[in-house]
Amino acid sequence: MNTKLLLTLGISTAFAVAAFADLELGDASKLPPTAKKTGVTYDKDIKPLFEKSCVKCHSGEKPKGKYSMETKDNILKGGKEGKSVVPGNSAKSALVHQAADLVKDMEMPPTDKRDKYPALTKDQVALVRAWIDQGAK
Ligand code: HEC
Repeated sequence: MNTKLLLTLGISTAFAVAAFADLELGDASKLPPTAKKTGVTYDKDIKPLFEKSCVKCHSGEKPKGKYSMETKDNILKGGKEGKSVVPGNSAKSALVHQAADLVKDMEMPPTDKRDKYPALTKDQVALVRAWIDQGAK
């Protein structure tokens, strides 16, 4: 094998690893428990929360973290670090951990921007969990 080929292989491997770098999870036992409400849907329950606290940064030509939150499909698709919502499993969904401030330096909204973008309350995080646990419909 020549050097150029080896180099190409090395670089592709590095990119592959970077592409699969997962978003970090915090301690799931510290998450607010899933809300008991049934029939939670994105349009009815979740969209208004995200529009207030998330969408301004996560939309447009260059959404932060390459993560658009403009539509439910965008939200499920994920950003530069991959998927942050695992339908059916909110405890494994990075978005929930970040919104509950369990991931250091990845609190969402960023802690220094909360004068403009309010953090989700515990009840709101619980509702986002219910939405995801019920299949993110
Ligand atoms: C003031 C702007 C701002 C607001 C508001 C905001 N974010 Fe973010 N978000 C960022 C920035 C900046 C990053 C990239 C951070 C990094 O990669 O270090 C990011 C990254 C993320 C990521 C990781 C994307 C990826 O794949 O790398 C998720 C998930 C996320 N935000 C969710 C949310 C949620 C949920 C809300 C609302 C509760 C929210 N964000 C509100 C600025 C914001």
